[in-house]
Amino acid sequence: MKEPLWSPTAPNTVIAGDNLPVLETLPEGSFQLICIDPPFNTGRVQRAQRMRTVRAADGDRVGFKGHTYQTLRGALTAYDDVFSDYWDFLAPRLEQAWRLLNETGTLYLHLDYREVHYAKVMLDALFGRECFLNEIIWAYDYGARAKRRWPTKHDNILVYVKNPKDYHFNNEDVDREPYMAPGLVTPDKVARGKLPTDVWWHTIVAPNARERTGYPTQKPVGILKRMVAASSRPGDWVLDFFAGSGTLGAAAGALDRRYLLIDSHPEAIAVMRRRLEATPTPPRFVAAEGELAAS
Ligand SMILES: C[S@@+](CC[C@H](N)C(=O)[O-])C[C@H]1O[C@@H](n2cnc3c(N)ncnc32)[C@H](O)[C@@H]1O
Repeated sequence: MKEPLWSPTAPNTVIAGDNLPVLETLPEGSFQLICIDPPFNTGRVQRAQRMRTVRAADGDRVGFKGHTYQTLRGALTAYDDVFSDYWDFLAPRLEQAWRLLNETGTLYLHLDYREVHYAKVMLDALFGRECFLNEIIWAYDYGARAKRRWPTKHDNILVYVKNPKDYHFNNEDVDREPYMAPGLVTPDKVARGKLPTDVWWHTIVAPNARERTGYPTQKPVGILKRMVAASSRPGDWVLDFFAGSGTLGAAAGALDRRYLLIDSHPEAIAVMRRRLEATPTPPRFVAAEGELAAS
């Protein structure tokens, strides 16, 4: 019998290949945390992919494959071809994310202002509105400033939980921030810092930063560490199936979590090899069926 690409007893793993067929082979409920940062411009080639449905464990969520979901999809995509492609690409992958989260698990979906409103509607339909936990604004201040509108200097991160009655969240373990008005609080509080809110001020990966890998869409490890610290426990499995330079792996390794990363781009695999092989818990690299060996 063929070995599965991954199982919960595997070591940290990076898989080279298209994420959807790989996700479909993974056992249900295997991950405590899924953090993804998908590309927006997926191109029309994805158009051929048909909507698929996934059998839900409890089978009773409104709109997962029912009327509401299909009506929403129809209404939203009727007037916008680009969005229709985006939906066809992302929706089956988000369905897999839902299937793969365990009962206390959380999804962080990293987007920007162009996509976030569509994706919120998509996730409300897929997960259920009651499973929406937060919209995090990651604010930074870098680069050129538009003159004809307010310069856009933030990304949006949608946070959904599998079960709103029983999800893991521990912000006590998260790095704290300086108070904006330290004169208004006690010196003890100033020394400790404050708990972050849903607006995270964090610098982008600067050109001269030590963590910089050269991968064009690399996100700061500090952002990912917050997600990992708050929404998983040491030893838990975390997943990023749009892994890029492997930032989730770097964050997870540093915080003693186990990770599975998937990316279809050979450059991403090469960057992850350089970045993660130097860590104390380096991953094994596996090629999905039909892919060239990850090297
Ligand atoms: C925005 S980047 C992720 C960057 C990442 N968060 C980081 O910090 O480096 C999106 C990634 O998704 C990958 N990707 C796009 N379509 C994919 C697919 N169908 N299967 C697997 N990976 C895919 C791209 O190769 C790219 O590396």
